[in-house]
Amino acid sequence: MSFLAFLSALIIVQGIWGKESKVIGFLGRSITLSSGKNANWTLTRVLWSIYQNSTYIAKFQDGKIDTEKIQKYVGRLKLDIITGDLEISGLREGDDITYTVLLMNSEDKQETHKLSLTLRAPISPPSAEQTFSVFQDGSCFTQLKCSSAERATNFSWVLRGTSHGQHWTSTPNSTESILFTSLQKNTEVTFTCIISNGFSTSSRNITAVCQGMKAPVYHKCNCRSRPGIVSCLVIMCFLLVLGCYIGKDIFSATLVLSTIV
Ligand SMILES: *[C@@H]1O[C@H](CO)[C@@H](O)[C@H](O)[C@H]1NC(C)=O
Ligand SMILES: *[C@@H]1O[C@H](CO)[C@@H](O)[C@H](O)[C@H]1NC(C)=O
Ligand SMILES: *[C@@H]1O[C@H](CO)[C@@H](O)[C@H](O)[C@H]1NC(C)=O
Ligand SMILES: *[C@@H]1O[C@H](CO)[C@@H](O)[C@H](O)[C@H]1NC(C)=O
Ligand SMILES: *[C@@H]1O[C@H](CO)[C@@H](O)[C@H](O)[C@H]1NC(C)=O
Repeated sequence: MSFLAFLSALIIVQGIWGKESKVIGFLGRSITLSSGKNANWTLTRVLWSIYQNSTYIAKFQDGKIDTEKIQKYVGRLKLDIITGDLEISGLREGDDITYTVLLMNSEDKQETHKLSLTLRAPISPPSAEQTFSVFQDGSCFTQLKCSSAERATNFSWVLRGTSHGQHWTSTPNSTESILFTSLQKNTEVTFTCIISNGFSTSSRNITAVCQGMKAPVYHKCNCRSRPGIVSCLVIMCFLLVLGCYIGKDIFSATLVLSTIV
């Protein structure tokens, strides 16, 4: 056999058996396994199988669909006979195996593709709370905390509504993020804390409320006692830091404006 003939035989074999693609699914969620159908093919047969393709889990043949072959998958499979794609819902342990699909078109040409499914746990939703708020000069300075049960590679906050500047801190791969913001009196502002572990994302909404606290807190605190001094310092530091951030925003806005002018 010439080298060329060997090469073309190899290409044909590869064309028939295809490559094994890798897909990632999340426990409890759905995944659609793509059949890799040639766009021009009209499918007359689709066989999805597992375990060295000896066990069919979903079958389209002679115009009939059967997705109830294997107990483990009953009620969880949806076969698209146009694309050949197979949707598996409610992913669970043990679904992380290799799936093989055999396609046949109207000219009786066949193609096989393999997909190996890896399962991951989705990141669970974070919790969020308003941990602190204090009034000064008609504004309410408040602090929100978003916590994740597992380390998140990324925390971010999205605001729905208006606030006078905001700033959040979080270090990569941490379990919480703190947001400082200043709101107008008697307003409600909803923040969404979004976390991600690089594979999946999750979020939590929290509404920051500033109800009437009449006198500024620093007038109330008893600065003679030690705890009083400490809380005074904490509150003053907080206001100072927040003031700096807001100030910086105004400063940079002025800078931008003067550059434009
Ligand atoms: C599909 O068919 C059209 C014309 O019939 C052809 O130009 C095109 O290359 C085909 N596409 C594939 C993916 O085979
Ligand atoms: C997979 O299925 C194809 C087509 O049904 C068959 O020809 C082949 O022998 C099977 N491969 C294995 C490893 O069972
Ligand atoms: C973190 O999330 C934000 C908002 O979704 C995104 O803009 C940013 O690129 C992400 N950072 C990383 C390191 O993934
Ligand atoms: C965060 O954790 C991921 C996975 O453990 C790691 O790949 C990444 O380098 C870490 N990033 C930082 C900034 O520590
Ligand atoms: C948060 O609020 C937005 C807008 O009201 C909504 O679309 C979204 O689904 C909410 N997210 C959560 C996790 O409740």
